[in-house]
Amino acid sequence: MAQEDVFKKLVSHCKEYGFVFPSSEIYDGLGAVYDYGQMGVELKNNIKKYWWDSMVLLNDNVVGIDSAIFMHPTIWKASGHVDAFNDPLIDNKDSKKRYRADVLIEDYLAKIDEKVNKEVDKAAKRFKEAFDEEQFRATNPRVLEYEAKKNDVHTRFANALNNSDLEELRQIIIDCEIVCPISGTKNWTEVRQFNLMFATDMGSTADGAMKVYLRPETAQGIFVNFLNVQKTGRMKIPFGIAQIGKAFRNEIVARQFIFRMREFEQMEMQFFVRPGEELEWFKKWKDTRVKWHKALGFGDKKYRFHDHEKLAHYANAATDIEFEMPFGFKEVEGIHSRTDFDLSSHEKFSGKKIQYFDPELGKSYVPYVIETSIGVDRMFLTVMAGSYCEETLENGETRVVLRLPVALAPVKLAVMPLTKKDGLPEKAQEIIDNLKFDFKCQYDEKDSIGKRYRRQDAIGTPFCVTVDHQSLEDNTVTIRHRDTMEQERVAIADLNKIIADKVSMKSLFKQLGE
Ligand code: GAP
Repeated sequence: MAQEDVFKKLVSHCKEYGFVFPSSEIYDGLGAVYDYGQMGVELKNNIKKYWWDSMVLLNDNVVGIDSAIFMHPTIWKASGHVDAFNDPLIDNKDSKKRYRADVLIEDYLAKIDEKVNKEVDKAAKRFKEAFDEEQFRATNPRVLEYEAKKNDVHTRFANALNNSDLEELRQIIIDCEIVCPISGTKNWTEVRQFNLMFATDMGSTADGAMKVYLRPETAQGIFVNFLNVQKTGRMKIPFGIAQIGKAFRNEIVARQFIFRMREFEQMEMQFFVRPGEELEWFKKWKDTRVKWHKALGFGDKKYRFHDHEKLAHYANAATDIEFEMPFGFKEVEGIHSRTDFDLSSHEKFSGKKIQYFDPELGKSYVPYVIETSIGVDRMFLTVMAGSYCEETLENGETRVVLRLPVALAPVKLAVMPLTKKDGLPEKAQEIIDNLKFDFKCQYDEKDSIGKRYRRQDAIGTPFCVTVDHQSLEDNTVTIRHRDTMEQERVAIADLNKIIADKVSMKSLFKQLGE
């Protein structure tokens, strides 16, 4: 199945089974804003718990906070967001549609890659076993021509972005003959900068309202609380502060479902270190974070690092962890060595000393920072994309199964009476009443057992327990495993232990230390 179709199916699956709904749907929705349904919220909470515990529970030197969404507006001046948190926009005069100039160029570059891959696929089919891909890529004239074009555009593009050269961005669009996907014309306006922050007024106009922003990242809430946490928690460097919370960006090109949203959630951790030791810690957090992703079991090949060649002026190292989504490898998490930029800038703008006295060195300094920053919603999409599976069974039937990591599954156990009579529902309810304190359980008595299994497969429930007449006699049930569909007869008294071992996050956490 084409990856585009897989993605479409995934999006409708999310809606059909109560994971994600378009926001304000009865009013025709609100662009790039989504609501999480009854299954989605459980999965999302489990993802957040996996992240939070991996930071705050497993590391003695990482603590959490929950800072407010509204912050003093000068914070966004100090952080650089007021002046530089912009997207370059361009309008097509015929369709009146607005685009991000950088995205138009990136899409153009991706199309060249597609063309190269098509040439390679064609040649591979033609030459079969004798095909040497490396040699073909290095020598085929058409491939070389595409690559030269790509490199040329890429270099111009990188320079234009680095120099904030909006005219050059437009010129690249013109030179590459990029057309508007709606009107098909090249009738473009100038490129303009557009700030991504949402603003609102705090206080009544009579009192002199203050313009405040909805935070575009949670990180600044951590920086401005550095001294509070360090002093009240008697934290010694190196230490980290973690936070999960909402962030808001007025994204212009909002697409690909929950990949790019206007209201989303971030899980960020700022790790404060001695100046000069930051690159060592950068490497450590890079390793730790990719292990966290890989522990979920979607396959190591699904991940890759994208090290930034061009760094932001305040960073001395940066990388993205990318996951292979149905629409290609995409950033899920960023890891940045941010030097002392943020704390120093807040010192300057607030006029308050933000330093740490290092008892071992006997001196004060502004700590350096390693940031790990991951979007909850992007992680949610990663988990759904990595788990969604359509299978053809031996009897020719198909089943859609979410092979969710067991610890993240919204429902851990479904309990099903074989029939709705003879005391089987009561026995099933008794099992739930015993297990519901430990696991999210679901009772289901409607339709055939086969249909009930399919419903649970579709939401990724790892265990289904069936209560039958034998259960009334000997207190045993059958337990069916989602992935293998194997069934075994077990004592009701053993259910808690069987399930607890498998659904615990402990096995995931243990892999992080390896
Ligand atoms: N404090 C650093 C920071 O915010 P970022 O690369 O802009 O860095 C970090 O964002 C992460 O937040 C991204 O890797 C992505 O997972 C998530 N993210 C950013 N913008 C998003 C959006 N519009 N919708 C969903 N997730 C987003």
